[in-house]
Amino acid sequence: MTPRPVIIDCDPGQDDAVALLMALASPESLKVLGITCVAGNVPLDLTQRNARRVCVLAGRPDMPVFAGCPRPLIRPLGTAEAVHGQTGLDGSGLPEEPAMPLQDRHAVDFIIDTCLSAEDGEITLCPLGPLTNIAVAIVKAPQIVPKIREIVFMGGAALGPGNRTPMAEFNIVTDPHAAQVVFESGAPLVMFGLDVTHTVITTPARLDAIRAIGTPVAAAVTGMLTFYDRHDIERYGDPGAPLHDPCVIAWLLKPELFRGKDVHLAVETNSPLTMGRTVADWWGVTGNAPNATVMDRADSDGFYALVVDRLSRL
Ligand code: BDR
Ligand code: CA
Repeated sequence: MTPRPVIIDCDPGQDDAVALLMALASPESLKVLGITCVAGNVPLDLTQRNARRVCVLAGRPDMPVFAGCPRPLIRPLGTAEAVHGQTGLDGSGLPEEPAMPLQDRHAVDFIIDTCLSAEDGEITLCPLGPLTNIAVAIVKAPQIVPKIREIVFMGGAALGPGNRTPMAEFNIVTDPHAAQVVFESGAPLVMFGLDVTHTVITTPARLDAIRAIGTPVAAAVTGMLTFYDRHDIERYGDPGAPLHDPCVIAWLLKPELFRGKDVHLAVETNSPLTMGRTVADWWGVTGNAPNATVMDRADSDGFYALVVDRLSRL
């Protein structure tokens, strides 16, 4: 099968890093055209640097990495150092300065140019952070929408509570106006929200299985995930942390690991109390046509087997 062409838009972040590693380890399935970075977990100058640190770790210093928007469309940037540490990749033990360049072109222009030179329905966008870059690309060049096969994103919560506010998940509430642009764009959406990502938890046994791979990649991943899980262990009382962003890549590689439902998806951008809530019309009560497949179940053992399998390749 021809590998699916994807652009990964991210804000690394330890879980973004694992997602990038899995994608770069799967060239027979995914053709990563470029990695675009956005402000989110930490400011943009750190997310773009972290993406390059991960590419070097994966042995891919040739991968084009682009910096995008340094702040959300309207709201001030709120970062998540409490989860990811001051660098965004705390615990990884990676060299601070990656031995590969940042591309000159703006991430938004890379997304637009890549889509415009593609066939209709060819490009899959994989946003793993706030949707700012994707929204700006759609606003600047709406003619990219027919070129998009799917926007497969991590963000939101359809059925359960949020993680940044009582009702909202971090990526969506960081830039809810960008989410609105993306949700209303007409591009097919696949959502991996907290409903599903909180079912794939890094238990000690799963971290041991990654550590046992015994490579520098495995050491960096177990280091960063051991740092990253302390926040969720404390907050939720779970044995580990959810690997949110890798769900996007895992679904592209093995869709049978997940279950979802086609629903109409919208986002709250007016109420201060529920700002950034993803509103999924689970029972079709509005009569609005579905614009998204919203995932709600995962085979978590199968998911971690895939994580270990892909990390073992690097
Ligand atoms: C999302 O927010 C970030 O902290 C993670 O990288 C993930 O993309 C989870 O809410
Ligand atoms: Ca992320």
